[in-house]
Amino acid sequence: MLFLVVTILSRSHADLNVYPSAGVLFVHVLEREYFKGEFPPYPKSGDASNDPITFNTNLMGYPDRPGWLRYIQRTPHSDGVLYGSPTAEHVGKSTVIEITAYNRRSFETARHNLVINIMATEEFPLPYQAEFYIRNMNVEEMLASEVLGDFLGAVKNVWQPERLNAINITSALDRGGRVPLPINDLKEGVYVMVGADVSFSSCLREVENPHNQLRCSQEMEPVISCDKKFRAQFHIDWCKISLVDINKVVPVYVTRPDPGSGVLPEIGEYNPPPESLKSRDYFSDFIVTLAVPAAVACVLFFILGYTMCCRREGVKKRNMQTPDIQLVHHNSIQKSSKELRSMSKNREISWPLSTLPVFNPVSGEVVPPIHPDNYETTSMPLMQTQNKQQQNTQNDTKRKEKYLL
Ligand SMILES: *[C@@H]1O[C@H](CO)[C@@H](O)[C@H](O)[C@H]1NC(C)=O
Repeated sequence: MLFLVVTILSRSHADLNVYPSAGVLFVHVLEREYFKGEFPPYPKSGDASNDPITFNTNLMGYPDRPGWLRYIQRTPHSDGVLYGSPTAEHVGKSTVIEITAYNRRSFETARHNLVINIMATEEFPLPYQAEFYIRNMNVEEMLASEVLGDFLGAVKNVWQPERLNAINITSALDRGGRVPLPINDLKEGVYVMVGADVSFSSCLREVENPHNQLRCSQEMEPVISCDKKFRAQFHIDWCKISLVDINKVVPVYVTRPDPGSGVLPEIGEYNPPPESLKSRDYFSDFIVTLAVPAAVACVLFFILGYTMCCRREGVKKRNMQTPDIQLVHHNSIQKSSKELRSMSKNREISWPLSTLPVFNPVSGEVVPPIHPDNYETTSMPLMQTQNKQQQNTQNDTKRKEKYLL
């Protein structure tokens, strides 16, 4: 019975109704605090109030959200935010969003429904729309009602309209911006579109004058008199401001090709290729690929043969053309080098003194001679082998001492 009451209670507070207006920015915060109460305290409790919680949001019965509704949660320890701008075509239908919260520590889930009833507004759409690019904000920071309120206050101050609304917010990352480096607390940047009912103030138009256009093209900051109204909190890139008067926008009709009935036109019968293949003459291919290169090779063979065999000059002719004195000189050099070579063959090898057998001064043992051909042992210093043997003898004496004790 109690269980039933609890479920009915939770049902009744599970469906939350909101009534945003078409053409106005809608923001709904999924508060961690609110969902934490849904998760029973975890038996082996750590700090339960700090459980990581993530959210999944989707249109009821579908895997994703409707196209106009976007969602952001920076970390599992921050609140999630649903935001977007519904348009007139969404008016009248109530949109049920399923919100599933996951506790990432206990793996429990809680589900709530958010019913969005989009209302029509009389003055939609506001005719004068300005989009600002704010460099020092992330989208979820801008969505906080007090920050957005401050920004709208500053805009109202410099524009002085009767009515002013935030229309849309877009992260700069969605417009080709880059993820900032994790230094100096750099932010992604955010585009905020606002709409008003009076024409743009002179201050908002200052960026259009030639002097500021020049500065923008040289990537310098333009001089805007009302920038100081924003400066304390918002760094606005005035070069990227866009001002649109929707009454003056010429509608663009995209001409698409006529899709047609979907049935292909008649093109007659299909004729498959015949089964028996025509024979093909490969003679010209043979001439080009084999006979011509072979002929060229033959010609080359005969030219080379003639020059190598019939026009050979030989040693005799060479000697005849060389002066006698050079030949005698050359002969004597050859002779003496031959003699040297034959002498070196029967020379007796005498080992250098350092490679002769030595006594180990400690053990009295004869260290084998180090053969000069054996590079591994020659590169090893003589002292090392001695040290090892010294250590061994030391260990031996220690062992002996132990026995004595
Ligand atoms: C709001 O911005 C998003 C992203 O830039 C865009 O897809 C959407 O069409 C915009 N909505 C309106 C009503 O301008």
